Amino acid sequence: MSNYHIKNLEEYFQIYRKSVRNPELFWEEIAEEHFVWRKRWNNILSWDFEKPEVKWFEGAQLNITENCIDRHLTKYSDKTAILFEPNSVDEPAQHITYKQLYAQVNKMSNVLKLQGVKKGDRVCIYLPMIPELAYAVLACARIGAIHSVVFAGFSSTALATRINDCDASVVITADGSYRGAKSIDLKSIVDEALNDCPGVKSVLVAERTGGKMNLVSDRDHLLAPLMKGASEECAIEVMDAEDPLFILYTSGSTGKPKGMVHSCAGYMVYTAYTFKNIFQYREDDVYWCTADIGWITGHSYILYGPLANGATTVMFEGVPSYPDYGRFWEVVEKHKITQFYTAPTAIRALAKEPLELVEKYDLSSLKVLGSVGEPINEEAWHWYNNNVGKKESPIVDTWWQTETGGIMISPIPYSTPTKPTFATLPFIGVQPALMDENGKEIKGNQVEGRLCIKFPWPSIARTIWGNHERYRETYFSAYKNMYFTGDGASRDAVGYYRITGRVDDVIIVSGHNLGTAPIEDAINEHQGVAESAIVGFPHDIKGNALFGYVILKEEANSRDQDELRIEINRLISEKIGPIAKLDKIVFVPGLPKTRSGKIMRRILRKIASNDVSNLGDVSTLLNPDVVEQIRKIVGV
Ligand code: WT7
Repeated sequence: MSNYHIKNLEEYFQIYRKSVRNPELFWEEIAEEHFVWRKRWNNILSWDFEKPEVKWFEGAQLNITENCIDRHLTKYSDKTAILFEPNSVDEPAQHITYKQLYAQVNKMSNVLKLQGVKKGDRVCIYLPMIPELAYAVLACARIGAIHSVVFAGFSSTALATRINDCDASVVITADGSYRGAKSIDLKSIVDEALNDCPGVKSVLVAERTGGKMNLVSDRDHLLAPLMKGASEECAIEVMDAEDPLFILYTSGSTGKPKGMVHSCAGYMVYTAYTFKNIFQYREDDVYWCTADIGWITGHSYILYGPLANGATTVMFEGVPSYPDYGRFWEVVEKHKITQFYTAPTAIRALAKEPLELVEKYDLSSLKVLGSVGEPINEEAWHWYNNNVGKKESPIVDTWWQTETGGIMISPIPYSTPTKPTFATLPFIGVQPALMDENGKEIKGNQVEGRLCIKFPWPSIARTIWGNHERYRETYFSAYKNMYFTGDGASRDAVGYYRITGRVDDVIIVSGHNLGTAPIEDAINEHQGVAESAIVGFPHDIKGNALFGYVILKEEANSRDQDELRIEINRLISEKIGPIAKLDKIVFVPGLPKTRSGKIMRRILRKIASNDVSNLGDVSTLLNPDVVEQIRKIVGV
């Protein structure tokens, strides 16, 4: 039996037990047999959740790109590594082989070196889903620079915050991006951001849309001519196991985004191992994850995990609705996709469209379907299972987070019997716990609590960039000696986990993690706004949508409310991005507050969800009357 490839439920249980009884021994075996190391570790694991500090494979040396590219050249040099499917159906797909990937990544590495980028420097990548994005990420990893990919849907203000937080000296971007029928001018967003980023010394620009752009001399360089002149060979930077590999920002419930730091060795081992098993990848499969590389899903399961296994991974530039809602299925048929990994919000949107858009394509190549990003509701699960999987492809409902680096709870397809809305069992090496509000672990089955993890896994984020105390406070202070996920979960009679959703002020909208505080901060910058509170409410397609309660300043009370709504949403778009726009905005005279001045979001959530049967005791509020007033305004 090979521990690397789990083939049935019995093996899963056997290997799981092994991984929990002696995690060090278990992970050592995986690391030893399946990766290329420049130097062996002295110590497999040291950890202390109090500090907190976690180190895996200390003393080892490696480069993740040697594992993702170089080592495959003997066997897979002409195999497609990245299959690029453009936005437009009229543009042919590109099959980028491992050999070509090697050359392009090396060229990009040399370009970065020419810009003075060295090991440990931060490089911000703000690119659409085009091959240059993959080259840029891997080139940073190759030369030991720390990449910070910022999703190219974020606004200039959000981009500037992220560039400044990690003090990036180089930005890699494009003239523009295609999204369905639209094209977006990325370069001018970058230009605007850079007005506030004095630390950026150079900007590399890929040309995608061919739009007009402004190039700042001495700062901006077109990428193509530099790539053309660069050598196809670039030696790897030998990295220590615990050297940072990348920073990726995620929203917190308060304040500015958290730059989660992932390190080289543990991340590589865990993403590769989870990819192999959770997608049951086999040699000639064509795997497609529809996420954007701007999110952790794309980092771990478009690039690093698949490439570490020598897989063919699809990079899709477009959107599910263009040129029509059959696009996903057209691509599945065209490239004979074997594993398809997407988000519940996309499934719900597609389920609303005529079935004929699915039925007209041949989806018989599919073997595994995946879901990630938020709880998948029962209806969406069945639609996916019946119409896409034809009840023959198991659905892996994969629970994890930016912070966990890799999938933590998920079925192993063809091994774990699936159950709609359940992420099912912990992956190998993962030790979940459900906790009650008093900090006690809830043992046994058929229980519900707050989801924690008791023991480190190799790809746990090591810190928040520049703020270790915030890392400790956010993840390790709620429960002693536990990593707290921020999610609630239940465990059924056989030990299957079901994630019930966030228990903090993070709201997941269309699979995007949004903190309420930064949105409220953006709204409060409006001249006419005195105070605001954001809550989530159920939405058919997005899962959750945002509901804003806004208190206006005296002088704004007479203004046209629709105009104000437009201005507020425009401000949110500018400060954060269009994904954070509010679906509903009501203007209220006050907000329900506790005596200590805390906004009672629970009440606001119930009103927003039209669920006022059980508002609880409001008499202890500082201002109980305001609840009635708000209900009248909302009309519930
Ligand atoms: C939060 C993390 C990890 C990839 C994308 C999101 C929610 C994620 C599931 C799932 C229920 C899920 C959780 C988690 N979430 N996957 N399968 N079932 N909830 O990464 O932006 O860091 O968000 O997404 O609430 O804490 P992220």
